[in-house]
Amino acid sequence: MSSSTGSHPDTSNAPYGASDHTDELTSADHNRRKFLAIATAAAGVAGVGLAAVPFLTSLGPSAKARALGSPVTVNFSRLEPGEQVTVIWRGKPVWVLRRTTEMLERMTHDDWIERLRDPDSAVESQQPAYAQNPTRSIRPDILVVVALCTHLGCVPTFKPEVGTAAYGDNWMGGYFCPCHGSLFDFAGRVTKNVPAPINLLIPPYRFLGPESVQIGVDNV
Ligand code: FES
Repeated sequence: MSSSTGSHPDTSNAPYGASDHTDELTSADHNRRKFLAIATAAAGVAGVGLAAVPFLTSLGPSAKARALGSPVTVNFSRLEPGEQVTVIWRGKPVWVLRRTTEMLERMTHDDWIERLRDPDSAVESQQPAYAQNPTRSIRPDILVVVALCTHLGCVPTFKPEVGTAAYGDNWMGGYFCPCHGSLFDFAGRVTKNVPAPINLLIPPYRFLGPESVQIGVDNV
């Protein structure tokens, strides 16, 4: 799933608390790559999955369908700045990234903005209205984003290092999709001239407290 190096240890599979957690039991994946990626993400909430199996087995068809659409609550209090965690919501991996001040600042560089296809999140369908801004978030420090490339649905890799030559001029860190080379920044904003046509999708979410976010419920 996501990875990091240097001062950014990979915490994407850390067992951060997710509740209301039933969606890792199903998957809409249609290819092996995505299945493996999502299975890896689900391992990060393995305790959640173990608890959910008997729960789902005991449900009838309609109750099970409702449970599979349930929101997921994530306590991210143990995330250090620059780290992220992966949870599964509706069969999809979702990242919760605690962005550093430096990450946020990098996203505003003129040279970087020039590389982006939709830097202001002008296309309304790609995020809720409350995340339609340059950071694509309710809180600047917390990104919540569906971790599926908008080209063909691979899971991008977390690449927070600055200046990696392979990712072109003025690379400011973000996500790299290994399938066909699409690039996204720490807001999930896609660069120009890559196969992915649009920014990564922002799911509905709301904060339940300063260190807790609920994915699948709109912020109202
Ligand atoms: S699936 Fe990500 S670039 Fe093709």
